[in-house]
Amino acid sequence: MAIILGIESSCDDTAVAVCQNGQVLSNVVANQHVHAAYGGVVPELASRAHLEHIVPTVDTALKHAGISLTDLDAIAVTQGPGLLGSLVVGFCYAKGLASGLQVPLIGVDHLEAHALSCFADDLKPDYPFLCLTVSGGHSRLTIVHDAANMEVIGKTRDDAAGEAFDKIGKLMGLDYPAGPLIDRLAQGATSKFTFTKADIPNLDFSFSGLKTQVMYFLRDQMRLEPQFMEQNKSIIAASVQRTIIDMLMDKLDAATKSTGLTSIAIVGGVSANSELRNRAKEWSQSHNLELFIPGLAYCTDNGAMVAVAGYEKFKQGTFTSIDASPYARSKN
Ligand code: KG4
Ligand code: ZN
Repeated sequence: MAIILGIESSCDDTAVAVCQNGQVLSNVVANQHVHAAYGGVVPELASRAHLEHIVPTVDTALKHAGISLTDLDAIAVTQGPGLLGSLVVGFCYAKGLASGLQVPLIGVDHLEAHALSCFADDLKPDYPFLCLTVSGGHSRLTIVHDAANMEVIGKTRDDAAGEAFDKIGKLMGLDYPAGPLIDRLAQGATSKFTFTKADIPNLDFSFSGLKTQVMYFLRDQMRLEPQFMEQNKSIIAASVQRTIIDMLMDKLDAATKSTGLTSIAIVGGVSANSELRNRAKEWSQSHNLELFIPGLAYCTDNGAMVAVAGYEKFKQGTFTSIDASPYARSKN
């Protein structure tokens, strides 16, 4: 039996969870509201807020799980990629805890933790599975052979899918992060405006062209009708969302055909998007595929994905040196 504490602090959320043999016992997130006024994450403010949140968030996660520190068998923690100052807070705290408790430290790559986030749910995929990771910092397609072996077969050439939502949302005057706001605005609206999808021949993505198209489209429309944005916000949101989801689904379909894999996972913050979830569900049913999209609590950054990924590494006996750096450079 193994009880693992998972700590995630790569960006602006201090997230901590406890899992027992891969089963999530608690999952707590302390969000940082300090960034709202700046339209994006301010790294220095993020690391300071992590310092304030880390101890109470760990305490709450232990309390919710009904265990104490001495019950822990290992400490799993995000070891890059992410904001260095933010990573340092979680990683150094985890190091101190692991050495004080004399239990193993398990460094987990943030993207690998996202890929394994569907293991936090009751229904878990078997290896190998095809994984579409779509977050604020990354968009990529991987074949997940096992917890330690993920083969990247496609990635974004510029912006990530979540970044496209956030940057286009900013053009629309929406707060950061704009992804969930565009999702909400688009619900019930018709996608009336057409934007061109990036034409990339392999399994790579590109979203920066869409951002530029939307910028010029809004500029031109508002020259003709200054109220255009306010009068059409939901339709713009639905049209942008449709284009992004089309691009993701096109590549996911192509990757499924080229790999022949029938177990498909969609993970990362953008996997919370309702249109992506619905479209992927219909697509998987019509193609006879097994689809795994984590529950909403495990899509955006969370401690549970670090804890369950840590458990996978614990089973393999893959531990991290107490001298390790908080930023293990991601392979991609
Ligand atoms: O995985 P995540 O929490 O952090 C990173 O690792 O980047 O992803 C955050 C991203 C943000 O860009 C946010 O706008 C996007 O996920 N996001 C969404 C939705 N919820 C979060 N994008 C579209 N629709 C959503 N419902
Ligand atoms: Zn993330």
